[in-house]
Amino acid sequence: MIRLENIEQKYDLGEQEVVALNNISLEIKEGEFVAIMGPSGSGKSTLLNLLGILDNPSAGKFYLEGHDITSLPDKEQARIRNKHFGFIFQSFNLFSELSAMENVMLPMSYAGVSFSDRKSRAKELLTQMGLSHRLNHLPTMMSGGEQQRVAIARALSNKPSLILADEPTGNLPTAKGQEILDILKGLHKQGTTIVMVTHNDEQAQMADRVIYMQDGSIQDSSKQDNKVLESQRGE
Ligand SMILES: Nc1ncnc2c1ncn2[C@@H]1O[C@H](COP(=O)(O)OP(=O)(O)OP(=O)(O)O)[C@@H](O)[C@H]1O
Ligand SMILES: [Mg+2]
Repeated sequence: MIRLENIEQKYDLGEQEVVALNNISLEIKEGEFVAIMGPSGSGKSTLLNLLGILDNPSAGKFYLEGHDITSLPDKEQARIRNKHFGFIFQSFNLFSELSAMENVMLPMSYAGVSFSDRKSRAKELLTQMGLSHRLNHLPTMMSGGEQQRVAIARALSNKPSLILADEPTGNLPTAKGQEILDILKGLHKQGTTIVMVTHNDEQAQMADRVIYMQDGSIQDSSKQDNKVLESQRGE
């Protein structure tokens, strides 16, 4: 589905240059559930933003279904993003002046869906998320778990093939976080590809594959195994 080749992401801060991602090559297969782990500042969010074409890399290639999309104009990238990707963030990122319904309807209006279809799909998704009694609530009138479920409904509005989630349970108490995880697991079962950044080992275990980041690079999984072996041998 997605292939990254030798991706670099650098930020030029005048005197200082930050290398956020260093020579990343990675493949995400259709239907996979991938977890990204690693210390703070290791480049997890930067990688997720690149995967979602929210940012362009400083160097390297990004192939979506075999097509190089790094050189596409911004407008075309935005269209692909809106049609194929759904985003879930740690801080929910809902529009505070819009109701739950309006938040979920918004991406569909960019995709040219008619008002009545937007309305019925938003209502259906929010009902699926257990929020049929919160349709006209503003984000400030909802709990964190409710807000995140609105965000998931919004992420699903255009039937994305890929969900990108950056610490989706980071701001929630454990029980509420588990609800969100169960929803993601259900979506994965239905065939949605999911890439999720998490600090939580238990959550990562639910993924098909875990990618460990360190200082902007993906750690070689064979080296990881070696480390475990070394520690077992007491080296
Ligand atoms: N816009 C930016 N300008 C300059 N440096 C940035 C920018 N965004 C990120 N960085 C730097 O890139 C590196 C990777 O940041 P990133 O946000 O991807 O880390 P992370 O692994 O998601 O960390 P956390 O677990 O704290 O969310 C960090 O050193 C960060 O300071
Ligand atoms: Mg981050």
